[in-house]
Amino acid sequence: MNLLNIYDYEKAAAEKMPSAFHEYYAGGVADNLTLHENRAAFDRIKLLPRIFRDVRHISLETTLGGEKRPSPFLIAPAAMHKLGHPDGELATARAAASFGMPQILSTLSSVAVEEITAVHHPVWFQLYIFRDRGWSAEIVQRAVAAGCQALVVTVDVPVQGLRENLHRIDFSFPPEIPIPNLARAEHGQDNSSLLKLVNDNFDPGLTWADIEWLRGLTNLPIWVKGILRADDAQRAVQAGVDGIIVSNHGGRQLDTAVTPIEALPHIAQTVGDQIELILDGGIRRGTDVLKALALGAKGVALARAPLWGLAVNGETGVRHVLQLLHDELENVMAQCGCTAVDQLTPDLIYNPPQP
Ligand SMILES: Cc1cc2nc3c(=O)[nH]c(=O)nc-3n(C[C@H](O)[C@H](O)[C@H](O)COP(=O)(O)O)c2cc1C
Repeated sequence: MNLLNIYDYEKAAAEKMPSAFHEYYAGGVADNLTLHENRAAFDRIKLLPRIFRDVRHISLETTLGGEKRPSPFLIAPAAMHKLGHPDGELATARAAASFGMPQILSTLSSVAVEEITAVHHPVWFQLYIFRDRGWSAEIVQRAVAAGCQALVVTVDVPVQGLRENLHRIDFSFPPEIPIPNLARAEHGQDNSSLLKLVNDNFDPGLTWADIEWLRGLTNLPIWVKGILRADDAQRAVQAGVDGIIVSNHGGRQLDTAVTPIEALPHIAQTVGDQIELILDGGIRRGTDVLKALALGAKGVALARAPLWGLAVNGETGVRHVLQLLHDELENVMAQCGCTAVDQLTPDLIYNPPQP
């Protein structure tokens, strides 16, 4: 199969992976409406390209989190990369490292945070705050000690979404795949009971006070992942967080929730001059990235795209997927008359004249 774009990788991964594992990666919740809208919303947006701009030299360089970055891409947190390939998150880390790209490592990764930071910088750590705050504090301390450079608190899972697709196939994680960031002597090694513990530990009682609690644990930058409303974004600014990830969890939480690309403009207009925004959800094409940056995101995070690369061909597959997206972004920037990411502005987006 000629692997020319992310959709080719998606198809190849579907053919290669055990169907239950593929369902875990690909699926959404309930009627999969938000899952599909995450793509459709990008496809509906039309571009207004600029001409005659001398686009011989394109740079993807940007700044994010106060640092210079080679590109606006990040790896989004996704649980259990070992379902895709035996090297799991290590393969993803090595591929991301070759692009100098931050990897946001999931709390539920199948490789320990220390093994990832040994091969890759920068690593940001995605945190689920559990009912057992002592356990959460231990996880934070471990991530800090391992050298992670930011914490990303996921805030859109007060309870688990309606994963009917997984219930229907009676999905469970294979017992031989570990969840090492959660290892604690009293929890034992059996990850099926550990996962039950995690599910029982998602805390519907979380509030903004928990960000204050987290601030007391570490000086690392704190990002909040899963905001879709401008008033929540404003509240995040007041709470002193360092950045916001505009996200609907890849269509895996609240079905019919608004898509990140539709929510972004209002959030960017409200807080975009005060705080950095990353968008994730549905990024499969260079034009998606261009649209997100034009509408106010500083960066974009990728979950399923690198997972498809991983499943097809391990580290090499992730590397190729990331290369494809870099190349596509450069190509479409040139066609839009842009040589640098700061030239990606809202006027590139076509708005039909109002009657
Ligand atoms: C298989 C899978 C596992 C995920 N696990 C996590 C997780 O552990 N923590 C988290 O904050 N988000 C998780 N997400 C959500 C992603 O971080 C991200 O918000 C979303 O998937 C981005 O959309 P995309 O998959 O279309 O790129 C997961 C997504 C997938 C596909």
